[in-house]
Amino acid sequence: MNRRPAQARREQERTRQARTRHAWRAGWVIAILCAGGWPARAEGDREYGAYLASQCVTCHQATGQSAGGVPAIIGWAPDQFAAVMMAYRHKERDNEVMRTVAAALSDEEIAALAAYFGDLKAAGGP
Ligand code: HEC
Repeated sequence: MNRRPAQARREQERTRQARTRHAWRAGWVIAILCAGGWPARAEGDREYGAYLASQCVTCHQATGQSAGGVPAIIGWAPDQFAAVMMAYRHKERDNEVMRTVAAALSDEEIAALAAYFGDLKAAGGP
């Protein structure tokens, strides 16, 4: 009667495999989310954003003033900011300058810029 231990072992093995499969599946979901499936949710690196912003503030005022037809872009919710940048990148928004700017940025860079500009407060404002 050593069928029982063998069967128990098989059962145990099956449970272990199921757990491993489950862990793999969860891992994939996270990997896909991180790889850009949901970039707007990614927490951007604000310091990197400050560095990248030097190319934006030649047109967009860091003080939040709109100047010469260039809108203010500070204080936005980061996911909203990222969504707008994606819209330029995918040519859903119509502006040649911003399409070019957005096309040159990675998801990580957009998230960083969103975090940086989102945290800026209008000069003299609340
Ligand atoms: C050469 C000037 C210029 C540069 C450089 C520039 N932008 Fe813009 N940006 C504009 C103009 C002009 C618009 C308005 C376009 C439109 O009407 O859709 C705009 C629009 C935007 C908007 C949408 C604003 C709104 O109210 O809808 C965002 C967000 C934005 N820019 C972010 C950036 C970021 C981030 C950078 C740097 C990586 C950048 N821009 C660099 C000129 C510029």
